[in-house]
Amino acid sequence: MSNTTLATSEQKTQAQVENSLAQRLSIRNELKKLSNDLLRNEIISGLNQDHKSISSKFFYNKRGSLLFEWITKLPEYYPTRTEKAVIKRYAPQLFGNQRSIDLVELGSGDCSKISLVLNAIPDHNRTSITYRPVDFSESAVDSSTKLLNSRFPDLKIEGLVADFTQQLESLPYVQPRLICFFGSTIGNFTPALAQKLLSQIANTMNSGDQLILGVDMVKDKNTIEAAYNDSQRITEAFNKNILHAVNGYLQSDISPIDFKHIAFFNKTESRIEMHLEAKNELWLESPYLANPINIKAGECIHTENSYKYTEQVINKMASQSQLFVNDILYDDNKWFALVHLMK
Ligand code: SAH
Ligand code: AVI
Repeated sequence: MSNTTLATSEQKTQAQVENSLAQRLSIRNELKKLSNDLLRNEIISGLNQDHKSISSKFFYNKRGSLLFEWITKLPEYYPTRTEKAVIKRYAPQLFGNQRSIDLVELGSGDCSKISLVLNAIPDHNRTSITYRPVDFSESAVDSSTKLLNSRFPDLKIEGLVADFTQQLESLPYVQPRLICFFGSTIGNFTPALAQKLLSQIANTMNSGDQLILGVDMVKDKNTIEAAYNDSQRITEAFNKNILHAVNGYLQSDISPIDFKHIAFFNKTESRIEMHLEAKNELWLESPYLANPINIKAGECIHTENSYKYTEQVINKMASQSQLFVNDILYDDNKWFALVHLMK
């Protein structure tokens, strides 16, 4: 073969590789369709309430997604390693025979849990599966799907950057669905909103479709509180990072240094509450506000709830969403559950 022919065939191979990569990995950003005004107004209306709050979805900008990944590796943060152990243990049973399905993952984050699922699916079945990660964080979808593509080159991946509380309809229904909603992210919603979200998810499912829901269970207060007050103060940085997102949307200039991280277990509500407490009086000014928002010294901004579940609550939520509980799978300590639901 002459040098020219060799170069042409090498170029062709490179082009073919890129082409087939593009066919197997695509990302669509639906979040851009939600106007920034809508997200900005969501922040403003939360800060104008008597009890100030910011939705926890605003944690997950690029820095926030990286801080969360760091949290998942902390010794005190038991949920991730416990859930991963349950996924690993039951993956052959839950996923081993799956084929010709759309594997949807809500709040996919770094995609590390879906790797455990994919490892349990034989190669010849994996080629018939489309993986559809859905996340609010563009950077998380972008970097995790590229990594996943290098680990599983034969897997078709169609990423979706979207808000799963209001954009689930933008997920195409192509094959029967197996939806994974790991991480106990459902626990970041109040019972009424979690119920609404579960019903919305159930409405996207057809008869026989499956949902694997990861939930963090009630356990002793000290273990739970330590997970949200780690000694390296990464959770503190994660909590304060939400203020950078606020500054981005409002073009404001509030400083994390003026706030204290607070996280405690509210037993009555069965939830961890995270707050940011103002160390001194502050005024939040923004071109999007007619009047600055006053934050008094000692006033708290509620940034996150993380509900801890019982079997009773799981069963009630499932039945109210018209979903059937096939199985509830645990680790040895019953700290974390994978709930296998079917429509
Ligand atoms: N499933 C991963 C990540 C959990 S962190 C794990 O178990 O480790 C929660 C993830 O949900 C983040 O990646 C965040 O960006 C995403 N998320 C939170 N609220 C969301 C929303 N309303 N719509 C889409 N994604 C959301
Ligand atoms: C994503 N979510 C379930 C985490 C949790 O535990 O509620 C987010 C988090 N907040 C503080 N640490 C981790």
